[in-house]
Amino acid sequence: MLHRFADPLRELLAAKCGVPSAEIRLEQPRDESLGDLSFPCFVIAKARKAPPPAVAAELAKVLAVEFEALGATVVATGPYLNFRIERKALAREVFAAVAADGARYGGSNEGAGKTIVIDFSSPNIAKPMHVGHVRSTIIGAALIRLHRALGYRAVGINHIGDWGAQFGGLVVAIRRWRNEVGVERDPVRGLLELYQRSKHAVETDETFRAEAVAAYQELESGKEGEVRDLWRWVTEVSLAAFDRTYARLGIRHDFVRGESFYEPHLQPTLERVIASGVTEVSQGALVVRLETIDKGLKETPCLLRQSNGTTLYATRDLAALFHRWEEFAFERCLYVVGGEQKLHFRQLKAVLTRMGQDWQKRVEHVDFGLLLGKDKKKLASRTGEVLILDELIDEVVDEARRIIREKNPALADQEAVAEAVGVGAIVFNDLKRERIRDVVFDRAEILSFEGDTGPYVQYTYARLGAIERKAAERGEGTASPDLAVLENAGPILMRMARFPEVVRAAAAHCEPAELSTFSIGLCREVSSWLSDNRVLGEAPAVSAARLRLVHHARVVIANGMELLGLAHPSEM
Ligand code: ARG
Repeated sequence: MLHRFADPLRELLAAKCGVPSAEIRLEQPRDESLGDLSFPCFVIAKARKAPPPAVAAELAKVLAVEFEALGATVVATGPYLNFRIERKALAREVFAAVAADGARYGGSNEGAGKTIVIDFSSPNIAKPMHVGHVRSTIIGAALIRLHRALGYRAVGINHIGDWGAQFGGLVVAIRRWRNEVGVERDPVRGLLELYQRSKHAVETDETFRAEAVAAYQELESGKEGEVRDLWRWVTEVSLAAFDRTYARLGIRHDFVRGESFYEPHLQPTLERVIASGVTEVSQGALVVRLETIDKGLKETPCLLRQSNGTTLYATRDLAALFHRWEEFAFERCLYVVGGEQKLHFRQLKAVLTRMGQDWQKRVEHVDFGLLLGKDKKKLASRTGEVLILDELIDEVVDEARRIIREKNPALADQEAVAEAVGVGAIVFNDLKRERIRDVVFDRAEILSFEGDTGPYVQYTYARLGAIERKAAERGEGTASPDLAVLENAGPILMRMARFPEVVRAAAAHCEPAELSTFSIGLCREVSSWLSDNRVLGEAPAVSAARLRLVHHARVVIANGMELLGLAHPSEM
């Protein structure tokens, strides 16, 4: 959006200095009080063989009038020309752009015709999502929305962990203890308990282990019968539970393809890797050595088939990757998975490289830090047991409900608002910092209406809505606006203008935090502007201009929330 101002400035500089306009780069000044756009004069100084500060000072002087005609004033600071865009012109352009695109302002078509595959959430059946899955779910969903806004076809895949030897043990545990545990009554907790008991039994009980191995063999053989039925039932029950959570977060995957989905592709995948000549047999197992590709993988070849013939997580992921490449010819394929699987994805990419599949460049592991409790230890439920995401959301929603009752007892629809605020608090907290950093989950802090939180953004949005509603009741805002009164709204206007750039950078870097930081910054600027500027009850042209700002800022805040995955109740 700022191009509308930047382009003519660049053209002018290029023409006056005899430098190709492609070489004139306008930057964002590090300190926004210096200006809105900044031009480092080094290219011109070099061409002229003059010191950059002298060039900056000279250009500021001789071109002042011409810059002004383009809607910008200029100041030379050291080697930089710093431009300040005239607020009235900025407001006019920004409002026009926001009004033209409405809910789509911030997006673009740059991804048209391109597909991005995003593997996210991907929990394991028979177990509740653990905190790593929570982060993957929230970050992955944000990346899907960001890319869709940019016109990409974004395909979300849930690579459920539903295959592996552990399911042999689980089947046997169900057989033995289903009534004792009462798994039908509370399948999520029941299955978890059976899963834990089966793990223990496999290690300690010889007969149990033999039965478990036989069950897994039967499962792998594809035979229909009791084992497959039980496995199917576990899958259904687990998926139903995951779906309830996804619904609360407003998330839908395009494809739910568990590891089992790739069973028919495993043999062809192995054959393909073998045919490419990169495999070796080592102690009966099929491996791909990777040190020629990546020295760091010297000790860790990729194991694709164990000596007993069974395949592994990596085998299934490799099969999935070929399948995705063939189906989607993706521009990028992202794996939103915690940092503890770094080695795994490095190996997968290295295997592809050894096979000469240069599209491995498009495959990226989007890793992230841990979600920790207030004590900086792994987050657990209040009772210290395994944390169930749905219960965690319930807890935060309860607290949100309490706060809302206290702050706004007359509010209609408190239930829906509490849900929106509770979920918004959890989501925002996860997207607040660079994803690689650990996140601390402090129930009180994430709900604070004043902190860098989801509820703060939601509250600011609702506050702007309230001003607009009141204006409508009072019939204000219909006069022709005097945009000159927005002179002190520069920080807000500049942020609104930069929003499309922020969306694009957040997607490109797979870093939703760039957007959450932006949203907080915009809300802070809006709040501070509101405390200095009365919107309603001023001279009609003044109120009208301020209401325009309120309205368009509210649209931008809403668009940001939408992309992050925060609901935006109109009242709070
Ligand atoms: N189910 C795995 C886990 O819980 C995560 C799967 C991530 N996706 C993938 N394609 N490997 O650790």
